[in-house]
Amino acid sequence: MQDIDEISKKRAIELFGSSQLSSFEVGTTRGLQQIHAYLFGDLYDFAGKIRKVNISKDNFRFANSIYLDDVLKGIEAMPETTFEQIIEKYAEMNIAHPFMEGNGRSMRIWLDLILKKHLGKCIDWSKVSKNDYFEAIIRSHVNDLELRELLRGALTDKIDDREVFMKGIEQSYYYEELDDYKG
Ligand SMILES: Nc1ncnc2c1ncn2[C@@H]1O[C@H](COP(=O)(O)OP(=O)(O)OP(=O)(O)O)[C@@H](O)[C@H]1O
Ligand SMILES: [Mg+2]
Repeated sequence: MQDIDEISKKRAIELFGSSQLSSFEVGTTRGLQQIHAYLFGDLYDFAGKIRKVNISKDNFRFANSIYLDDVLKGIEAMPETTFEQIIEKYAEMNIAHPFMEGNGRSMRIWLDLILKKHLGKCIDWSKVSKNDYFEAIIRSHVNDLELRELLRGALTDKIDDREVFMKGIEQSYYYEELDDYKG
């Protein structure tokens, strides 16, 4: 793992229980930008900033940068009352992929904040294997059922448990390894 990722991971761990986290917006683009800026501030010059160029991964093109602001407004307005709605919103945010890098890691924290607020639960990411996660997130462009059921199986009500959070961050940053972007 590179230095940037190590530093960012330390910040993610610090974030747990910090007063800053409780000041972040929940379920909005701004809330996601706040998380991203916290994790990657001074590490990337685009920390917290919405991208202005197009990006893709494994031949999948994320939302066109020309429409990204509108796409993000639409996603913000999506409901987040039920678990199904929340996962649908998460899958849409993944298609938007608003940052140049660090989308997955900031989005997983963003998702947990929404789940905590509305359902009093979060994902125990240590229970979600990298392989299963990637299969499900790729499939979610077409249908988010697999992602939903995978994440449902890892839901926990231990939202204040430091160990769940720490192991989750380890896992989330492990997903990121061996990953590259094609512009
Ligand atoms: N082929 C794909 N199609 C759609 N989404 C993908 C694909 N591959 C990965 N993803 C999603 O994009 C995320 C990676 O995006 P990005 O590299 O910006 O984030 P990251 O935080 O740097 O990486 P990671 O999520 O791997 O930790 C993955 O976590 C996953 O949610
Ligand atoms: Mg990445």
